[in-house]
Amino acid sequence: MGPNVSGAGHVPVLADEVVRALDPGRGGVYVDATFGAGGYTRAILAAGADRVLAIDRDPDAIAGGRALADASGGRLTLVQGRFGDLDGIAEAAGAAPALGVALDVGVSSMQLDAAPRGFSFMRDGPLDMRMGQAGPSAADLVNTAPERALADVLHHYGEERAARRIARAIVAARAEAPIETTARLAAVVAGALPPQRPGQIHPATRSFQAIRIAVNDELGELARALSAAERVLAEGGVLAVVTFHSLEDRIVKRFLQLRGGRAPRGSRHAPETPEVEPGFAPLTRKAVEPSAAETAQNPRARSARLRAARRTAAPARAVDPRALGVPPVGAAA
Ligand SMILES: C[S@@+](CC[C@H](N)C(=O)[O-])C[C@H]1O[C@@H](n2cnc3c(N)ncnc32)[C@H](O)[C@@H]1O
Repeated sequence: MGPNVSGAGHVPVLADEVVRALDPGRGGVYVDATFGAGGYTRAILAAGADRVLAIDRDPDAIAGGRALADASGGRLTLVQGRFGDLDGIAEAAGAAPALGVALDVGVSSMQLDAAPRGFSFMRDGPLDMRMGQAGPSAADLVNTAPERALADVLHHYGEERAARRIARAIVAARAEAPIETTARLAAVVAGALPPQRPGQIHPATRSFQAIRIAVNDELGELARALSAAERVLAEGGVLAVVTFHSLEDRIVKRFLQLRGGRAPRGSRHAPETPEVEPGFAPLTRKAVEPSAAETAQNPRARSARLRAARRTAAPARAVDPRALGVPPVGAAA
């Protein structure tokens, strides 16, 4: 392993804290379910893991990790797939039960910065946003979804207060010509909102986040991954999850509350009696935030939050995604 732990173009976030929680010095098998540029994988291997199974749904990320896998002497297995299926992938790769599962959810800098991937309103490109490079794209969603469904996506996944107004503007614009580029979508969204004031985020920020989440079913994937991790972890194994916005963090927090034996406050789906056998014991009482030094070096880290918990001996239990607060928005068009 070389000394470079960042790979090209993506600086790993909260990596020291994640590795400390996973404690790979114990040896054993670890699953890095969001390989990206391999920052976590390198650090987990360097800290003494016997083996890492690394998963990413993006074929470019997997291709970028080949040299690392070849140089690992059989310690790194790379698989293209979704982390919602991580238990099946781990079984098939002989990596279950595992002593750790790491999730660093969201997009990588490589994805965000590559105009042809269509994630960014800052760089014009085809309106794509598919992490896995397959299935319906953002253009498919934006040009075919009913106005109401678009408004729901913007409201639930972007927490956009002007969701209805923006959805109406999208439907009017696409009637003139299909919306095929990130620049045109950004202009349509900006045109539906008051002018941006200095210091405000770009008016398309929330809409782009919402559409990206819908295209990749990011919240559904996260909910499935948490349950899959519970099934795959050995007793004493650690789940470490880094999220980048409150929608994601809330899902992780509720999952750990539910599987930690406590009902989330105010949940209609809460069990009537507390669970007797918690599947996880918390390692972090509150979400861990990056240090001032880390955010100074890497401003993209500023909204990151880590939650970690240790697997108990209790049997895994299915958790209804609605109980985790995954909004009931229809799948992408
Ligand atoms: C923030 S990056 C991870 C960066 C990585 N920790 C590093 O240090 O380089 C997130 C990665 O997760 C992948 N990803 C997102 N959702 C996924 C899913 N449902 N299944 C598998 N991979 C996913 C993305 O393609 C992206 O490469």
